[in-house]
Amino acid sequence: MSLEFSQRIQRIPIYPAADGYGAKAPDVKLASNETPYPPLPAVRGAIERAIGSLNRYPDPTNAALRQRLSERYGVSSERIAIGNGSCDILLAAGEALLEPGAEVVYAWPSFSVYPHLAAASGARAIEVPLDGDDCHDLEAMAAELTVATRLVIVCNPNNPTSTALPLGAIADFLDQIPPHVCVVLDEAYCEFSLMEDPDASVDLLDAHPNLVLLRTFSKVYGLCGLRVGFALCGSSELPRAVDQVRQPFFCNALAQAAAVEALSHQDVVADRVARTIAERISMQERLRALGLSPASSQANFCWFALEGVPQGERLDAEQIELATQIESETMKGLLQRGVIVRAGGALGRPGWLRVTYGATEENARFLEALAEVQTQARAV
Ligand SMILES: Cc1ncc(COP(=O)(O)O)c(C=O)c1O
Repeated sequence: MSLEFSQRIQRIPIYPAADGYGAKAPDVKLASNETPYPPLPAVRGAIERAIGSLNRYPDPTNAALRQRLSERYGVSSERIAIGNGSCDILLAAGEALLEPGAEVVYAWPSFSVYPHLAAASGARAIEVPLDGDDCHDLEAMAAELTVATRLVIVCNPNNPTSTALPLGAIADFLDQIPPHVCVVLDEAYCEFSLMEDPDASVDLLDAHPNLVLLRTFSKVYGLCGLRVGFALCGSSELPRAVDQVRQPFFCNALAQAAAVEALSHQDVVADRVARTIAERISMQERLRALGLSPASSQANFCWFALEGVPQGERLDAEQIELATQIESETMKGLLQRGVIVRAGGALGRPGWLRVTYGATEENARFLEALAEVQTQARAV
């Protein structure tokens, strides 16, 4: 006998995990926008110290972490939400804000978790296509606001396209949003952007109580295996609401201890960002040398169409089939050479790849493998 599930489970898309994480893990992992650098010794030390208290529940108020974040960003503790990864805050925000009849507006392609929010709540998802430069079309997004809009999400820099918008454009956009509509500015990758000071957006919170800056320890701090993220909010309303809809101990003790410690090592974080940006510049140049045209990246990953993939706003069925075939052959060829990257098909754009900038030697392995696969495809 099979189980009888709720109707909503049939609407919820299954998270498109990267292919290739099977029995034999590839040695070059460039599929999940992780950092190639291991946790800092001081962070490991904090985790080891916290292990001794694992017979106790973690602090359900995350007081120490919120206090440290409050000091760092000048945002009061009650306006800070903590999560089991920033995804946890995002999903909880969806649960708190959305319901049948409500609408959520976001760009597409963007982070693959956003479609879950509407599907899980029964709200309507309004997906606004990116513009010709693969950036958010904020004007088109503002035009989609209706009386039913409860949530607008802007991903800056955008995953998967790696592109970013200047903060001025986002500030102008915020001025057009009614105060009862929550705006989540997902800044998971903001530290990698050279467009402006990654903390400049914090200043927008004072003028916009409806604004939520979503940040994470998964990327620049390299703690994705522990799961901890945070949100800096324009008011205490959203932190209260997300706590209401979640289980009490959503952030584990090791994650809390590691995140507190990680915040004290901004010099190392800055150094790692600089190294990632150096890899970004080099990788973009070398992709161009292979005849490819990567999008203008402000993140720790790049985004480009594979050789031979048809371009254009609307592809016909035959073109999509060709793009999917090129993508699948390339992914297979890369995996055979021990390299895993993210295929664009699962992210809304068949025939494109999203590739994380890894360590120098990993990037070299990827580029070498891609060149070989391209050469092989030309010969067929
Ligand atoms: C745009 C964006 N937001 C949020 C997240 C979630 O990160 P985490 O839940 O690990 O904090 C990711 C992860 O890849 C992301 O790409």
